[in-house]
Amino acid sequence: MVNSILVTGGCGFIGTNFIRFLFELEKENFVVINVDKLTYAANPENLLDIQQRFPKRYFFHKVDICDFKEITKILDKYEVDTIVHFAAESHVDRSIIGPSDFVQTNVFGTFSLLEAVREKFEKGKQIRFHHISTDEVYGSLGSRGYFYETSPYKPRSPYSATKAASDHLVRSYFSTYGFPVTISICSNNYGPYQFPEKLIPLMIINMLEGKELPIYGDGKNIRDWLYVYDHCTAIWKVLNKGRIGETYNVGGENEWENIKLVELLCEIIAKKTGKSVESYKDLIKFVKDRPGHDRRYAINCDKIKRDLLWKQSVDFAVGLELTVDWYLKNTDWLNRVRSGEYLKWLKINYQSRK
Ligand code: NAD
Ligand code: TYD
Repeated sequence: MVNSILVTGGCGFIGTNFIRFLFELEKENFVVINVDKLTYAANPENLLDIQQRFPKRYFFHKVDICDFKEITKILDKYEVDTIVHFAAESHVDRSIIGPSDFVQTNVFGTFSLLEAVREKFEKGKQIRFHHISTDEVYGSLGSRGYFYETSPYKPRSPYSATKAASDHLVRSYFSTYGFPVTISICSNNYGPYQFPEKLIPLMIINMLEGKELPIYGDGKNIRDWLYVYDHCTAIWKVLNKGRIGETYNVGGENEWENIKLVELLCEIIAKKTGKSVESYKDLIKFVKDRPGHDRRYAINCDKIKRDLLWKQSVDFAVGLELTVDWYLKNTDWLNRVRSGEYLKWLKINYQSRK
């Protein structure tokens, strides 16, 4: 049973959605502690309403996961019994331009967190550690085949290499020290609160602002998309019913070529704004490819479906429409996250593709 759950990276995209999901659960009374360093990708305002509605159940600490002492204090103060570890540097393009933060947070940060838990473990306190990973650790697929939990790790970007390293560390703490760990490995998420550097929110915003839609390479790279709410339900299933030491793949079973996905978004947005689909498609611009661009990701998630009775609940057309509506409604949120550093980054990323 979960009484006190520490969520790392709760002010980012999936962490925010997960915390909001936790507070929608009925008959639960656990405490949630959100530890986030508040990097460029975070917005603490995402959870202000939760803070106001649940002052005795929700606590936020601006802390770096690499800070062993502060993490230890938090584990003690709240008698944490469960950790869900999202905190990471998460954007492939940024990892190509500057991998250092990725090694620091994703590898060293995960290690430091595990060490804080190990200290408690050695004093007889069991803390369940659920680690969030990405299908990118498995590398790149050709036009056929799927990623299974048994597929070899073949990360190809600094981002995926650091995520792979953290997965291995987590597993090693299970086999070496007997920690109660689980890992979920998920495909590309989309939905509300996603920072507009990733494909779907970037394209939505550029369409709304009449800006170019940069498609890397030939646009035929394939991703398997999952609505973020369905990722949250999968994590909750693993926390409650997952077998200790196991890894569970989570995916949308919903493969799209980037160009086809962007064209679909053009259609959805044209319906909302009353402008022509062509006026949006005209904004598409094929730009220089991402170095080492993984061709195709596709998850086989039979294991979590069969063993934990999880399944996706949000159809892609519905999920995309919900997402577009959310971005249309939340212009204040957008302006807030796009201030300062964001514009600098877009310029650097875009210039590197000319
Ligand atoms: P995000 O970039 O939106 O959020 C990451 C959060 O972690 C931010 O709030 C940031 O401030 C925080 N953070 C970064 N470094 C930190 C540190 N040193 N200490 C404390 N907090 C720190 O990322 P996301 O898309 O929400 O991804 C969350 C997790 O899910 C990551 O581990 C990522 O690898 C994994 N994942 C993401 C996807 C996806 O499609 N977005 C898919 C599969 C797995
Ligand atoms: P992204 O959202 O960065 O996720 P990931 O690289 O982790 O899968 O990118 C999704 C796909 O979209 C990927 O194949 C790269 C491509 N892409 C573009 O074509 N243009 C863009 O501006 C971005 C951000 C991504």
